[in-house]
Amino acid sequence: MSPPGRPKGESQSAQREGNSVNERVSLPARDPVLRVMPVPADANIHGDVFGGWIMSQVDIAGGVLASRRANGRVATVAVTSFLFKHPVFVGDLCSFYARVLKTGTTSITVEVEVYAERNRLEADVVKVTEATLVYVATGDDRRPRPLPKLPSN
Ligand SMILES: CC(C)(COP(=O)(O)OP(=O)(O)OC[C@H]1O[C@@H](n2cnc3c(N)ncnc32)[C@H](O)[C@@H]1OP(=O)(O)O)[C@@H](O)C(=O)NCCC(=O)NCCS
Repeated sequence: MSPPGRPKGESQSAQREGNSVNERVSLPARDPVLRVMPVPADANIHGDVFGGWIMSQVDIAGGVLASRRANGRVATVAVTSFLFKHPVFVGDLCSFYARVLKTGTTSITVEVEVYAERNRLEADVVKVTEATLVYVATGDDRRPRPLPKLPSN
C-alpha cells in the first residue's frame, strides 16, 4: 500500500529514477532550524500539501535564524525568491535548513532550503523548496533598528 499522500499507481522504481516527484539527495550535514510533518488538514483533496503551508513554515524557519542574529524581534519585509521544486505529501518529514546570506544596517537576508524524507526506512530524501527572505530587526515601536554587532572572538 502507498504511504499517505503518495500518488496512486506510481511505482517506487519510477520514483527512484529521478522523475518529477523524486530526485534523491542527502540531507545537509548541519542541523535543521525546524522539522515538521504535514497532516491531512495541510493538504488538498489529492494529498498534496498546500504551497501556503510550506511558505508559512519557511517564514517561521527563516525568522528563527533572523531573530537570533537580530537578538530580538524581526519582521519579514520581503520574499525575494521562492521555488517549489517538488511536491510535498502528507506524512513527509520536512526539514528546514536556514543560513544568513547577508546583513545590512537593519536587514538580514536568509536562505531557507526544505528537504522531505518520504520513505523513512529507505531514506528517500528530496529537496522540495528553496527560498530567500529578507527580515528587518525591529524595536518595540515596530520600526527598524540597527543590528547588534557580532561579538568578536
Ligand atoms: C519591516 C518594516 C518595519 C520596515 O520598515 P521600512 O520603513 O520599510 O524600512 P526601511 O525602508 O528603512 O528598510 C529597512 C531595511 O529593509 C530593507 N528592505 C526594505 N524593503 C525591502 C525589499 N523590498 N527587499 C529587500 N530589502 C528591503 C532595506 O534595504 C533596509 O535594509 P538595511 O537597513 O539593511 O539597509 C515595515 O516595512 C513593516 O512593518 N512591514 C510589515 C512587516 C510585516 O508585518 N511582515 C509580516 C508579513 S504581513
